[in-house]
Amino acid sequence: MNRPRHFNLLARVLHWSMAAAILAMLFVGAAMVVSLRHREFLLDLHRPLGLAILLLAIVRLVNRLLNAPPPLPADLPRVQVWAATASHWALYALMLAMPLIGWAMLSAGGYPIVLFDGVNLPAILPHSPAMYGFLRPLHGVLAYVLFFTILAHLGAALYHAWVRRDEVFGQMAKGD
Ligand code: HEM
Repeated sequence: MNRPRHFNLLARVLHWSMAAAILAMLFVGAAMVVSLRHREFLLDLHRPLGLAILLLAIVRLVNRLLNAPPPLPADLPRVQVWAATASHWALYALMLAMPLIGWAMLSAGGYPIVLFDGVNLPAILPHSPAMYGFLRPLHGVLAYVLFFTILAHLGAALYHAWVRRDEVFGQMAKGD
């Protein structure tokens, strides 16, 4: 199969815009649980941005499954190939899981899931305080897992760009 030299335009646009959106969400999430003053405003931002991330993650996953990615360098050690593959799929899983868990925990808690003024999402789980008690900390723990996976991903990208000086960073940064 012929492998492209770069990720396609849709993959690149989604990669960089979602990187900004997800980082913003992690900080908005952390800020809203510690700030009483800005809590309502930040929550009103958190829910629709989280749903947008869920929809974009689905588009991105479909695009990834339909289009083969550019290959990693042939001389990359096997352990690094394994780490890259595992962390990329972990990022996909977390991009889908985080918003779904946020939505599910509000459903289980019996809270209205307000997207915008007058537009509510339906509950995706029945009311269950026990389930809320499980999902609420899970949302927080997975936020840390997502944050550290992003840091590792960023470290690996910079290692390719500045240490190995191979084609990997350019595959996501520029087109054909
Ligand atoms: C990529 C998507 C998302 C990310 C990265 C994210 C991240 C976070 C973070 C970091 C926190 C703070 C956790 C803590 O300190 O315990 C949080 C809390 C929360 N998130 Fe999300 N979230 C996402 C999606 C969503 C969605 C879609 C919803 C709802 C529809 C949602 C609802 C909430 C709620 C209600 C809280 C807790 C507020 C509180 O109890 O004070 N999140 N989120």
